[in-house]
Amino acid sequence: MEGTKLKAALLTWLIAAEKAHCFPRVGTAVGSILQSTAVDSATSFETQYPPSNSESRLLIPESHPVYRVALQHDGHSSQQPFPNFDVAEFIDGLEDLLSSASTTVSSSTTTAGSVAHTAQTPPGTTVAQGPVTTEISLPVGPDHPKTMNGQDIFQPVATGPIPANIKSRDDHPVKNLHVNTSDPLSTNKFYAGLFLGTQTNATFTQPYSLAWSKGGGSLKSWGMGISHVQPGMLAFGPENRKIPGNPVQYYINPIGLQHLIFSATELNQSSVMDTEQPTAFSANAVLKRSPGSAQQITFPLVQGMGYATAVYNELEPLIESGVFFRKVVSAGSPRPGIFKYRVDIEDDTTWLLYATPADGKDPKFKLVSKSSLRGPEGFSGTIQIAKNPAGTSGEKFYDNSSGVYPTTGHISGSVTGDVGSYSLSWTKAGKDVAGTPLLMFALPHHIQSFDKATQGRITNISLRTTTKGNATAVIGESWTMVEPNLPVDIGFAPWSPTHGSAHELSPAAQQAILEIAPQELKQNISKQTDLNSMYYSGKALSKFATLVYTVNQLGNNVDLATNAFQELKKSFANFVQNKQQFPLAYDTVWKGVVSTAGYSGDLNQDFGNTAYNDHHFHYGYFVQAAAIIGSLDPAWLAENKEWVNTLVRDAGNSVANDPRFPFSRSFDWYNGHSWAKGLFESFDGKDQESTSEDTMFAYAIKLWGKTTGDASMEARGNMMLGILGRSLNNYFLMEEGNTNQPANFTANKVTGILFENKVDHTTYFGANLEFIQGIHMLPLMPHSPFTRRKEFVRQEWQAMFAENASTPASKVDGGWKGVLYANLALIDPKASWEFFAQPNFNYSWIDGGATRTWYLAFAAGLGGA
Ligand SMILES: *[C@@H]1O[C@H](CO)[C@@H](O)[C@H](O)[C@H]1NC(C)=O
Ligand SMILES: *[C@@H]1O[C@H](CO)[C@@H](O)[C@H](O)[C@H]1NC(C)=O
Ligand SMILES: *[C@@H]1O[C@H](CO)[C@@H](O)[C@H](O)[C@H]1NC(C)=O
Ligand SMILES: *[C@@H]1O[C@H](CO)[C@@H](O)[C@H](O)[C@H]1NC(C)=O
Ligand SMILES: *[C@@H]1O[C@H](CO)[C@@H](O)[C@H](O)[C@H]1NC(C)=O
Ligand SMILES: *[C@@H]1O[C@H](CO)[C@@H](O)[C@H](O)[C@H]1NC(C)=O
Ligand SMILES: *[C@@H]1O[C@H](CO)[C@@H](O)[C@H](O)[C@H]1NC(C)=O
Ligand SMILES: *[C@@H]1O[C@H](CO)[C@@H](O)[C@H](O)[C@H]1NC(C)=O
Ligand SMILES: *[C@@H]1O[C@H](CO)[C@@H](O)[C@H](O)[C@H]1NC(C)=O
Ligand SMILES: *[C@@H]1O[C@H](CO)[C@@H](O)[C@H](O)[C@H]1NC(C)=O
Repeated sequence: MEGTKLKAALLTWLIAAEKAHCFPRVGTAVGSILQSTAVDSATSFETQYPPSNSESRLLIPESHPVYRVALQHDGHSSQQPFPNFDVAEFIDGLEDLLSSASTTVSSSTTTAGSVAHTAQTPPGTTVAQGPVTTEISLPVGPDHPKTMNGQDIFQPVATGPIPANIKSRDDHPVKNLHVNTSDPLSTNKFYAGLFLGTQTNATFTQPYSLAWSKGGGSLKSWGMGISHVQPGMLAFGPENRKIPGNPVQYYINPIGLQHLIFSATELNQSSVMDTEQPTAFSANAVLKRSPGSAQQITFPLVQGMGYATAVYNELEPLIESGVFFRKVVSAGSPRPGIFKYRVDIEDDTTWLLYATPADGKDPKFKLVSKSSLRGPEGFSGTIQIAKNPAGTSGEKFYDNSSGVYPTTGHISGSVTGDVGSYSLSWTKAGKDVAGTPLLMFALPHHIQSFDKATQGRITNISLRTTTKGNATAVIGESWTMVEPNLPVDIGFAPWSPTHGSAHELSPAAQQAILEIAPQELKQNISKQTDLNSMYYSGKALSKFATLVYTVNQLGNNVDLATNAFQELKKSFANFVQNKQQFPLAYDTVWKGVVSTAGYSGDLNQDFGNTAYNDHHFHYGYFVQAAAIIGSLDPAWLAENKEWVNTLVRDAGNSVANDPRFPFSRSFDWYNGHSWAKGLFESFDGKDQESTSEDTMFAYAIKLWGKTTGDASMEARGNMMLGILGRSLNNYFLMEEGNTNQPANFTANKVTGILFENKVDHTTYFGANLEFIQGIHMLPLMPHSPFTRRKEFVRQEWQAMFAENASTPASKVDGGWKGVLYANLALIDPKASWEFFAQPNFNYSWIDGGATRTWYLAFAAGLGGA
């Protein structure tokens, strides 16, 4: 299979350095200058970043970084995101269909007797035959009574053991060498760089990034480096002239910058780093002088933390700077027992340092060189640093919250009617902890949805994040966000924000569906679903479940789909019995349910499923298929619910105290979307490509919750959809006027792959425009119009897929053509309908994970017919 292809391309920028600054030897009113560093500097230079640490040089490393733009595959295969089947193999009778079809598909040449029967049934009449007794309908429109009242969204999915068919294994190919815990491990969170591989890649708490220097970098430090990248430091890719506005293909933050480093003179190559107390929102990195030593620095790393905090135990602090100190000023005690320093470094930024010694004594830091600020021997206590872009007004906030720090985060939430509310809160530690408020950074989508009380605590301290626009400091221990328009009424039927669910299609649409469906129902379901990939198999199960639903409920013909439905249940059972080609295993090392495909030496098998890549994508399709099967045949649930719930617990567990699975493996409740990358060490952190398959998981658990009567899961799915709608619109699906991504990037309309450290308008499987945009479209499902807003879809279509654009949909080949035209239904359902209903339809336009029948129903339900 495909190996890890590393298309290493290094771009080196050789930029003339700015004229050096002069550093006056004058005191300030607030304190005294520890040491000044007036040195003339070169006006230009050529060098590789990181530069060597030459004391005679006053260079600004930020002027000449090496940026890494390689796209590493990390288990993300270069295969297309859908299985490929030979269409000719299953579409027999195609000729008949083509000769008889017209845009209204009114004849019934290919339909079976049962179809003719249904065609005579008035639309809307429930055909009470066959296995279906349940009405699959959710309240339609905003006036209907809501099903949920103040529903807690974090009730347990299940608490039982792993299904007996899934055997445990303790030989996971990725060893856990650096995390000290027996709890389930979050594999896809922002701090995986602490414990994977070299342990030197960054942890992205936003707005700060931290990375263990481990003897590397320009200073060869053994401490923990802190980086905050200014906008001017970004590197931009080449322009894409196929897209109006000629956007740049990518932007990337330089890596390896060490604005400040928390170290200690005792650290050296005997030192080790452990990860302790990992949760979904935090982890402690612990740098120990040597293995087992109590002389250590603990870094409580929490998403959004306002300061980088280091808790020292019995070490001589060494604060270093790879950008070099310009001036360090002792700035008194903002509060009793806390000692402040104002630190200017050579990139013209000002940082604040707060030391809180355990013994209360003035630590008297000394600037011993341009790169070293030294504290007292045997120091125990806390040192915090923060970058202050907001002058005196910012400093007041930092002073007021100094000495305390968050240790971990919590989430809670509930849904009432169609209003969801969730809160992020933090436990804190430090000096005078009870009376001192936290200062935490919020992302743009948080700020937008803050409730009134939280809004009142926003400051004007703003620091850019690596890939999500500006973060803003907020005072306090918790924030509450409100999502006012949750799509609670989306069910299995096509849905639009203006008309709700279309449970009844027009007679013409019904008839067309019933004429097309028999061809597609003839596919060999067991063959197409029994694949060597959980991803492709799940897609195929989802496709057939959706087809059966469409015929059964939208076509109002139960009989026509009966055989396929039985076949579908048999195929699903293959997985529940764990008899698929690569069975699932319960991995006791990291704790989760993984494909065994990657145990044989190639971790990239099945898109890296074994190493926890993409679980929400893969399992979301199974869960959606199960939701349909279970609602059409409630008796099916008894034997299958436990297995499906196991997939939900693995990819999106709802509680933090389940001994078998971590909380919310994929969805990141701080970032507001999921991360797909699992246990692969990465320069650029976690990433996600397919936002539409992220929303598919939320949609799937919403409907599975509905089907199984798990009101908490249903509400959680609704909440996740609400949050995704907002976060995607802010960061991934860029309408005109988006200010969170760089101005010359937004015309790409979609991010492509968004990493924690870079954004690259491409895919893992190729750079065709229809791939890059299309992987944010598929699968087209009832929730698609909710997360892909009309205005966005219109702009994207005009810029890229309209007849006058570079890549007209009409000229795109293969399954992607079907994806584009199904997406067109979101803005022009009639054109979409006409495309799928055309007499000379070519089945090569339908990908292996979709059906023409559903696409027709989808376009019709949105008003196309
Ligand atoms: C894990 O950490 C705890 C607390 O920090 C410590 O007591 C224990 O010895 C550590 N265990 C290992 C295996 O390092
Ligand atoms: C590193 O420090 C340890 C003490 O923490 C010391 O025993 C050891 O000799 C040092 N190693 C080197 C190579 O300096
Ligand atoms: C922040 O707001 C304060 C008033 O609350 C104002 O005095 C100050 O100038 C602002 N600072 C910045 C950097 O905008
Ligand atoms: C400063 O902290 C006090 C509590 O110690 C809090 O009441 C006040 O709101 C804080 N002020 C600012 C400006 O953050
Ligand atoms: C479906 O495919 C399977 C496996 O390839 C095969 O054994 C079976 O005979 C096929 N069924 C039909 C009806 O062709
Ligand atoms: C980061 O991860 C990459 C990929 O595994 C690895 O090659 C590199 O050494 C790591 N560390 C740094 C600082 O780049
Ligand atoms: C982000 O902050 C910078 C200043 O740091 C400011 O120039 C820019 O306009 C801000 N962007 C937005 C979208 O507010
Ligand atoms: C993109 O914009 C940045 C400033 O935000 C600029 O530095 C860069 O040169 C631009 N790149 C191109 C190709 O226009
Ligand atoms: C195509 O034409 C429409 C107007 O009909 C225009 O809005 C759009 O910008 C054009 N697209 C391209 C790529 O020129
Ligand atoms: C359908 O499209 C495929 C791929 O472009 C082509 O090879 C085939 O001839 C087409 N079939 C018909 C009936 O036009």
